[in-house]
Amino acid sequence: MAAKPVNVWDYERLAEERLDPGAFGYFAGGAGNEWTLGENVAAFGRLHLRPRVLVVVGTATTETTVLGQDVSMPVLVAPTGFHRLAHPEGELATARGTAAAGTVMCLSTPASASPAELAAAAPEGKHWFQLYWPRDRGFTGELLAGVVEAGFGALMLTVDFPTAGRRERDIRASFRLPADLPLPNLPVGLGTGDFHAALSEMVDPTLTWRDLEWLRSVCPLPLLAKGIMTAEDALLALEHGAAAIVVSNHGGRQLDGVPATVDVLPEVLEAVGGRTEVFLDGGVRRGTDVVKALALGAQAVLVGRAVVWGLAAAGEKGVRHVLELLRAEVALALTLLGCPTPLDVGRAHVVRAR
Ligand SMILES: Cc1cc2nc3c(=O)[nH]c(=O)nc-3n(C[C@H](O)[C@H](O)[C@H](O)COP(=O)(O)O)c2cc1C
Repeated sequence: MAAKPVNVWDYERLAEERLDPGAFGYFAGGAGNEWTLGENVAAFGRLHLRPRVLVVVGTATTETTVLGQDVSMPVLVAPTGFHRLAHPEGELATARGTAAAGTVMCLSTPASASPAELAAAAPEGKHWFQLYWPRDRGFTGELLAGVVEAGFGALMLTVDFPTAGRRERDIRASFRLPADLPLPNLPVGLGTGDFHAALSEMVDPTLTWRDLEWLRSVCPLPLLAKGIMTAEDALLALEHGAAAIVVSNHGGRQLDGVPATVDVLPEVLEAVGGRTEVFLDGGVRRGTDVVKALALGAQAVLVGRAVVWGLAAAGEKGVRHVLELLRAEVALALTLLGCPTPLDVGRAHVVRAR
């Protein structure tokens, strides 16, 4: 593709051209029939915006706050593993590009950079840490001490991963990790065989809501529960001290057949009743997707694959450009909706298509 990429879809095509098919399949793929993967995107198309006209918006600002931290836009970078499969500089390039765009990057547990390395690469960046909780509690405690020491702003516990979903693209391609891939946030290597199985083996499968108490006792950072898909679990998360909730189905990579995240967002928001901020990820490819989520009541969204496509296409610059494109799309959508700021977008700005 010769022309300059102008949106996230263009970056996806570029990434597909640049990556070897196994790595592209790892990033793009979902579980089972990939029905949920498709639904995450399709569901945004079933929500229609209701603009208000002849409103003097001036220059709309996309700036907002997440857990009290200022960010340039209501779009954060979701945790995604193994960025060195997309670009040799891996997570360090993602961190620099995200810092330049003025938003939060969530560092994934299966990353090739430690929290300290990430902070050193992008000292002006805002970083959160995503935890896959290992069986080894001693290791987990030390890892989290490093997260706090590196100045990270929040801890995001992924609650929808007692074991990996079945990713058939990786099975077909016999996709394997390079033997020399550093994974400093894991207590064990993932080997050169089935890395989804190895990661599943590493995660503690006995965790229950009660374990959040231990997590909060060893880590003073605000705790987000990522992977909530029901009102019941949203309430349990709050009861056990979560400071915020991330409505997520892991980008359609875990239980195929669950609904699109934007379809369950209202149920979760109703249960939470404004007590904490609620975030959403899954299927966000456009600024208009972002404002639809805001209109339903999300504080912000996170983007996973969109950023990986930028990284694969052009490293740090690509990450920054993807995020800047999304920011400009959000600013335009706010202006055309008649909303000067993200907080002005409300329920009256969106309607479900009949
Ligand atoms: C390639 C890839 C790797 C991922 N790795 C992780 C991970 O390590 N930890 C985690 O909590 N979620 C992980 N996720 C899920 C994302 O955090 C996020 O929920 C999802 O990507 C959002 O959907 P989107 O890609 O449509 O934006 C991963 C997703 C993808 C696509």
